[in-house]
Amino acid sequence: MTDSGIRTLTPSAPAFPQDRTCPYRPPADYDRLIADGPLTRVTLYDGRQVWLVTGHAQARALLVDPRLSTDRQNPAFPVIAPSSERQGEIRLPVLGVDDPEHGRQRRMLIPHFGLKRVAAMRPRIQQVVDGLLDTMLAEGPGADLVRAFALPVPSMVICDLLGIPYADHAFFEDSSRAMLMAATSDESMAAFDELRDYLEDLVDRRRAEPGDGLLDELVADRLAAGELDRNDVALTALLLLVAGHETTSNMISLGTYSLLEHPDQLAALRADPTLMPGAVEELLRFLSIADGLIRVATEDFEIDGRTVRAGDGVMIGTSLVNRDAAAYADPYALDVHRSARHHVAFGFGVHQCLGQNLARAEMEIALTTLFRRIPTLRPAVAPDEVPLKPGHSLQGLFAFPVTW
Ligand code: HEM
Repeated sequence: MTDSGIRTLTPSAPAFPQDRTCPYRPPADYDRLIADGPLTRVTLYDGRQVWLVTGHAQARALLVDPRLSTDRQNPAFPVIAPSSERQGEIRLPVLGVDDPEHGRQRRMLIPHFGLKRVAAMRPRIQQVVDGLLDTMLAEGPGADLVRAFALPVPSMVICDLLGIPYADHAFFEDSSRAMLMAATSDESMAAFDELRDYLEDLVDRRRAEPGDGLLDELVADRLAAGELDRNDVALTALLLLVAGHETTSNMISLGTYSLLEHPDQLAALRADPTLMPGAVEELLRFLSIADGLIRVATEDFEIDGRTVRAGDGVMIGTSLVNRDAAAYADPYALDVHRSARHHVAFGFGVHQCLGQNLARAEMEIALTTLFRRIPTLRPAVAPDEVPLKPGHSLQGLFAFPVTW
């Protein structure tokens, strides 16, 4: 830092995020970041430097700190990939809104994602999982686990919950993927516009002919009362639709991959299926698929002897935070017996994942049923032939050829 308060660039601050080379390990270059942690400087693709948090205690302190904002419309909000360069044009509900407005928006949705509501959805989730496995088994042996199982499970479930026709899944899965991973911001925005237009049309159709999903409740209760307008309802549905299928599908495919690569852990789970809820937590910790939560500081403050200035970008490196040796013994090992509670794979604080109960139920049912019904499941290609999603997106597999 210079006397004038303008931050100087830290020489050789490593690039962040980087692509994984192993589906479940942070990139090898991140080892340096741990050594320089718990707060260190990294360089984004556009040359800007931001803080990266790698310590568990520091991450949890910062994720509850109201001096960090998630408002993508703040011009200082970090841009982590070309696809996000026009992020400031969208007022992303819930996730991109700070309190107190954030709390108001979140409270409207909380009842739909509570434990009781999710418990009531379990039979339907089981039915979806069984149906997909019936088809996979009838058409096999051999399948792309992503297309045949990991993607349709959460897609079907979130469609049911929202009241969106699953028949449109190819459209919304492709546009979600393009939004998150397009090479340019124009392509990403074009995909966003298509998806928003589709959902606005759906809102109009449901006004005329109500259904029985969350979207319909927002139309009947909030839109009719003037609390939300047509665009608000469409964007809320868009957030839930994208967050509801892109995330959990990556966890199911990567979770399967990781267990197949750790046969001792899979054997322990097979021997005692009651371990599955704990194993899901451990997989969440181990895989940390949302690897880089993004914030911008709105005030100056001190943490761990470092001065964070208003306008500084702050990223939480969840894969490193979830491997902090101060929080977890032998953190690079996958251990389905460990208590992985307190991981930050769902974030922490006011923005902690709204869909976490649903995600846990889906993962638990999907993984338990998959390994029970296909006990000889195995990869059909070598590990280096499994295509990985890029470092700036949610971590996952584009495809996972399996056989049995
Ligand atoms: C295993 C799957 C999932 C993972 C790993 C995951 C991860 C996360 C993380 C890390 C955040 C916090 C982001 C931040 O603080 O910047 C988050 C927020 C959120 N997630 Fe999830 N998520 C998953 C599944 C779901 C599902 C199934 C839904 C529901 C439809 C969902 C809806 C949301 C929403 C609405 C938020 C924003 C909450 C807020 O800002 O108050 N997620 N998720």
